[in-house]
Amino acid sequence: MTQPTHSDFHQRLASYDDEIINSTEQKSLDKMALSRRDVLKGSLNAAVIGFLGLSMGSRFAFAGENAIPPAPYIGFQPIQPRTDPLFDEVVVADGYQAKAFFSWGDPVETGATKWKADASNTWQEQLKQAGDNHDGMHFFAFPDNNNRGLMVINHEYINPTIHTDGLIYDGNGKRLPDDVKKEQAAHGVSVIEVKKDSHGEWQRVYPSLYNRRISTLTPMQASGPLAGHDLFKTVADPDGNEIIGTLNNCSNGFTPWGTYLACEENWHNYFVNHDKTDYQSRVSHHRYGISNDKNDNYYGWSTIDARFDATPDASLPHQGYVNEPNRFGWVVEIDPFDPQSKPIKRTAFGRFCRECVAPSLADNGQLAFYSGDDTRGEYVYKFVPSQRFDKTQMHNNKDILDEGTLYVGRFNDDGTGRWLPLVHGNEGLTAENGFPSQAEVLVNARAAADLLGATPMDRPEWATVNPHNLDVYVSLTNNNKRGKEFAVNAANPRPDNRHGQIIKIMEEQANPAATSFNWSLFVIAGEKPDATDAEGHKVADHLVGNIQGDIFSSPDGLGFDQDGRLWIMTDYDDDDPFMANMGCNQVLCANPQTQEIKRFLVGPRGCELTGITWSPDYKAMWVNIQHPGLSYPASDGKTRPRSTTVLITKNDGGVIGS
Ligand code: FEO
Ligand code: CA
Ligand code: CA
Ligand code: CA
Repeated sequence: MTQPTHSDFHQRLASYDDEIINSTEQKSLDKMALSRRDVLKGSLNAAVIGFLGLSMGSRFAFAGENAIPPAPYIGFQPIQPRTDPLFDEVVVADGYQAKAFFSWGDPVETGATKWKADASNTWQEQLKQAGDNHDGMHFFAFPDNNNRGLMVINHEYINPTIHTDGLIYDGNGKRLPDDVKKEQAAHGVSVIEVKKDSHGEWQRVYPSLYNRRISTLTPMQASGPLAGHDLFKTVADPDGNEIIGTLNNCSNGFTPWGTYLACEENWHNYFVNHDKTDYQSRVSHHRYGISNDKNDNYYGWSTIDARFDATPDASLPHQGYVNEPNRFGWVVEIDPFDPQSKPIKRTAFGRFCRECVAPSLADNGQLAFYSGDDTRGEYVYKFVPSQRFDKTQMHNNKDILDEGTLYVGRFNDDGTGRWLPLVHGNEGLTAENGFPSQAEVLVNARAAADLLGATPMDRPEWATVNPHNLDVYVSLTNNNKRGKEFAVNAANPRPDNRHGQIIKIMEEQANPAATSFNWSLFVIAGEKPDATDAEGHKVADHLVGNIQGDIFSSPDGLGFDQDGRLWIMTDYDDDDPFMANMGCNQVLCANPQTQEIKRFLVGPRGCELTGITWSPDYKAMWVNIQHPGLSYPASDGKTRPRSTTVLITKNDGGVIGS
C-alpha cells in the first residue's frame, strides 16, 4: 500500500536558499556551565522576571474582583480575511513585518547538513535538523542578558513531505526502516540560541553549544509516581525508569525556574494492540483510542519497530511492549540551559492526550498548570504542585513537579464550577473500580475523570493565564460530531459546533489552588448574524457566533502578552465550505475587558497557526506556520512547503499589538 506521494510538488528548486543567518563564536563549556549555575542560584533570575510577562513584585495584589487592570490598548488596524485558494504568504497588519525565521530541515546541532529541497536528507541528517510541524514554543532569556535567549520549539508530528515520495509501504505492508527513523528524528523539540544583532534584529546563533534536538529517539528519565512502577516496565526497560523519546509534542508550558514543558498529545496514533480481547480488557488502551487494527495505525511504525506494537507477548518479560503506551501522554520537562540534561517525564500530571500545560503563579508562590485533553468530549484538567515556588533558592524547585494534585473540571450550567481531585481512594477511585493505587488513577486519568463526573467539553486545546488577574482562558476548538455520549450544556452550547468557543475560568479569590471557580464564555466563534454563504443564503443560526470584531473559527493557540492582550490562533480546514468566509487560518488579538477582537495576521493556505512567544521587551513575537499547504516559505509555487517559525516586528520598533 502506498500512501499519498505528494507528486503535486513539481520541479524542486535545488538552488533554494537556505542559508543560516548568523554565525557567532563558540562559547566554552565553562562559561555555559557558569550561566547555568547562576540560574540555579537565582542570582540573576531572568526566568522569574519573564514569567507570565511580569516580575513577581509587580503583579497586582489579588483583592479579588477589585484588581482590574487598565484595558490593554490594541493599536493596529485589523486586516481582511484571505480567501484566495492560492494564498501562499504571511500577511500582518500595516506597520508590521513578518519573516521566516526557522523552518523544518534548518540545521540545529553543530555539523548539521543543509536542508535538501527534494527531501533526500537521511534520518541521521534529520536528527541534527529542525523537526516538522512546529507547534508550542517559548523564549527563555539568558539570566544576564535580555538580548540573548534560547527558543524551545515543539515538532508535533510529520507530514508526508518529509520524504521524497511520501509515506511508503513495501509489498508486505511494512514501512521502510530508514523512513520511520527519519520520522522519529523529525518529532520532538528544538532548542536554538537567538540574539539581537547590532541592528536590533533577532537572529539565530549557529553554531551554538545550546543548539539541541530532542526526538523520539532521545532517552528520557521517568519521574514521579509512575517511575519504576510495574505499569512502566517493558522488555527493553525492565526497571520502568528510562523512556526512549517523546511523541506528538503539541502545545507546551514553562516554569518560573527556567525549564520548558513539552506536552504529549496524540501519542495513541503511533501504537497498535492486535489482540481484541486484551485490548478490550485494557482501559489504558481502549479509553485512549489506541488502534486495534494494523490497517488503522496512522504512522505504521509498528510494522517495523516492535516498540510501537503493544500487543501482549506472553513469551517476553513484562509481555513485551504492552506497557509502552503507558509511557506517553505526559509532561516532559527540559532544561534548555543545560544541553547535557536528560529530559524528564513528570508523571504526577496524569496521562491523557495533553494539548498544553499553561502555568499560573500567584504572588505567594502557589503554582497551577492548566491542560486541555483535545478529543471530543474530553476534559479540562489542572495540576497543583504541593510545594510553592521558592524564588530565593532555585534548586528547591527542582522536583516540585513530582508531587501534587491532579484535578478535572466540572462546569455547572449556572456558571459555577468545581475542580474534582483525581486522588486514589476518593469518590470511588478504588480497587473495585479499577484503581488499585494512584498509579492507575494517573495512567487512566480519563477513566478516573469519567467516574467523578467531569464535564465533557468540545475538544479543549490551549489554556493561557492573564498575568494581571490569573483568569484562565481555554479554547474549545470545535465539535461537529457530538454523538449520543454527551448532550449540550451551558459551557458547550451548540449541538453542531463547527466554530468553537473560548471559556474563561475565574478561580475563587484568584487562587491557583482553589477548588471552586466561576466560568463564562468569553467568545463564541463563528459568523456574523447577517453572513451569507457562497450561494448568497443566510448562514444557519448555529454557525453564527457573538464575536465583537473580526470573524474566526476553531480557536486553538492562546497567549497573553505582558500588557494583557489575549492572542488567539486558529486551526480549521480552510478547504471546508463552512470556512469559506473565514479564509486562511489567522492570528487575532482580543481585549479581555471589552471583548473586542481584531485580526492581526493571516497565514498561507493549508496551514494552521500555532505556538506563540515573545522577546522579553515584547517587541518581537514569534508564531508558527504549521503544515502550510502550497510552497511557503519559498512561496514560489514549486518548492515543497515547510513548517516555519515566523518572526514579527513592528516597523517603529514598538511593542507588538500596541
Ligand atoms: Fe496538537 Fe490539539 O492540537
Ligand atoms: Ca492545537
Ligand atoms: Ca486544533
Ligand atoms: Ca496541527
